[in-house]
Amino acid sequence: MNAPLPFPTSTTPPSSAGRRIPIRTGEIHLWAVSLTAEGDDYRFWLSLLSEGEKQRADRYRFDQDRRRFVVARGMLRHLLEEYTGTEATRLVIDTDTHGKPRLVQTARPIHFNLAHSLDRALIAFSRDSAVGVDFEDLSHQDRVVEVMDSICTADEKAAIAALGDEAARSRALLRLWSAKEAFLKAMGTGLHVDPTALCVSESVWTGSAAPSPVRWEGSPGISSRYALHPLPDCEDWLGGSAAVVAMKLAVPHRLVWMDLASEVSAAA
Ligand SMILES: CC(C)(COP(=O)(O)OP(=O)(O)OC[C@H]1O[C@@H](n2cnc3c(N)ncnc32)[C@H](O)[C@@H]1OP(=O)(O)O)[C@@H](O)C(=O)NCCC(=O)NCCS
Repeated sequence: MNAPLPFPTSTTPPSSAGRRIPIRTGEIHLWAVSLTAEGDDYRFWLSLLSEGEKQRADRYRFDQDRRRFVVARGMLRHLLEEYTGTEATRLVIDTDTHGKPRLVQTARPIHFNLAHSLDRALIAFSRDSAVGVDFEDLSHQDRVVEVMDSICTADEKAAIAALGDEAARSRALLRLWSAKEAFLKAMGTGLHVDPTALCVSESVWTGSAAPSPVRWEGSPGISSRYALHPLPDCEDWLGGSAAVVAMKLAVPHRLVWMDLASEVSAAA
């Protein structure tokens, strides 16, 4: 995988419409985007939303949250248009039982998932595999040890507790948390499955960037069909985050970073 691209500081609409982004079997395309947009740029993203999404945006209490939702959803629709060939405003985005967004009735089906934190989002697309993404801001290290019991198995807790210092423990927990959440998002259950029922291999939370399996005690058969792919911690994108992509292993996968500014692939 190439080094991640620098994180964009604002999200400007595409200069030309109607491009098609080719995505091959086994590729997972990753987009790191800023959720900051003003004026005409913001109005462009808003114009792509469905009535239901606009109503949801209106329900946000804080203007900043509303604007971030609008840019994230607008960007998602724009990229879906380029992957599927269906106009952004005509796409029907539904949610499955536990809230995972999915496309309804498109001639060219595509899997996708999105995570956001503050003014950043990570969006993943795959033609053939269910995907889940999550990233946790490494600046939240002070708070994360408090939630250890609700994330870790007994073995994971013991191994993390044995790590040298507080910063190392917090970092490991954030990586572990983003790995479990990415897996739960790939499956589509979200937190309806207890994260402490999942066992993640130590290499994920000690910082390896190699793909690794996940084990779900409740359903070993299901978990064996998924893989976790941690992304390297990187200070210049997503603000320094622990990020993980989980995917259903239909075929061997390859991560490809996509560049929002030029919308050309930085092929792995
Ligand atoms: C899915 C979930 C893990 C998201 O976690 P989060 O840290 O709050 O948010 P993230 O930024 O990582 O992801 C949010 C995005 O994930 C996607 N998403 C929502 N539910 C999802 C699910 N079940 N599976 C996969 N993706 C999901 C959406 O695109 C959402 O963004 P959007 O609503 O703006 O479109 C969590 O909200 C969840 O489990 N929800 C379902 C259970 C629930 O409602 N529990 C109540 C509290 S316990």
